[in-house]
Amino acid sequence: MANTASTWLIVGASRGLGLELVRQLIATSNTVIAACRNPSSASQLQALEPTGAELHIIQLDVSSEESIRASVGKVEAVLNGRGLDYLYNNAGILAQDDAFNFSYSEFLAILQTNVVGPALLASLCLPFLEKGNKKTIVNVSSSMGGLTHDYGASAARYSASKAAMNMLTHKQAKTRPDLIVISLCPGWVQTDLGGVSAPLEPPESVAGQLKVVLGLKKEDTGKFIRYDGQELTW
Ligand SMILES: NC(=O)c1ccc[n+]([C@@H]2O[C@H](COP(=O)([O-])OP(=O)(O)OC[C@H]3O[C@@H](n4cnc5c(N)ncnc54)[C@H](OP(=O)(O)O)[C@@H]3O)[C@@H](O)[C@H]2O)c1
Repeated sequence: MANTASTWLIVGASRGLGLELVRQLIATSNTVIAACRNPSSASQLQALEPTGAELHIIQLDVSSEESIRASVGKVEAVLNGRGLDYLYNNAGILAQDDAFNFSYSEFLAILQTNVVGPALLASLCLPFLEKGNKKTIVNVSSSMGGLTHDYGASAARYSASKAAMNMLTHKQAKTRPDLIVISLCPGWVQTDLGGVSAPLEPPESVAGQLKVVLGLKKEDTGKFIRYDGQELTW
């Protein structure tokens, strides 16, 4: 992986794609802030051994306003005056339901985790991003959140939350042209969320994601891009 030393905040780093992102990023001299809900039980994350990189594990429940606000102080302490190059809003939850058959409170919960929390975190991290060299927000989305991708009736809440995240990306990019903001689809990957039938394994998806992210240019802001570099329709 081509790389230069940068500062990264990876949200949802305990397992799946977030864990693999941290694993690949600490192979070179990055500073990685790995945020997870329960650091003490994130054994795979705790077991990682950085080679020439800085790894800092912090607590962050992205569905909780209180936790998000508290995490910002921890990010600031790690950065210690440095800017944040990449905010990687990777945490997400999936629900299998349909548009007429869901729990009201669970619909709110998925929106909190998949879009409202990431939106608040981005706004609170703005001062750090402004000081960063890359000024990049990666909102991990899904082609299931694209209106032009027909996945039928399933996963209605999840798809609605990712459609909202895609619009958030669009609005963040339009509001702050000094930043680079993208929605990134990791592909269908074998994780707890993706399931065992998925054709991709986390290392392949993440290597592709990082190639895309490290290659981003100003003109890419506001785009919806797949892990293999293909631009997706909304
Ligand atoms: N896998 C796929 O095929 C696929 C396809 C399209 C998009 N995506 C997207 O890719 C992202 C990563 O998915 P994944 O496949 O790696 O899923 P995963 O294996 O289920 O991992 C999800 C991660 O998000 C974290 N998380 C969930 N809720 C959180 C919260 N409230 N606060 C902080 N962290 C939280 C989990 O932490 P805990 O361990 O604490 O639960 C875990 O680390 C998601 O946004 C997902 O929608 C995945």
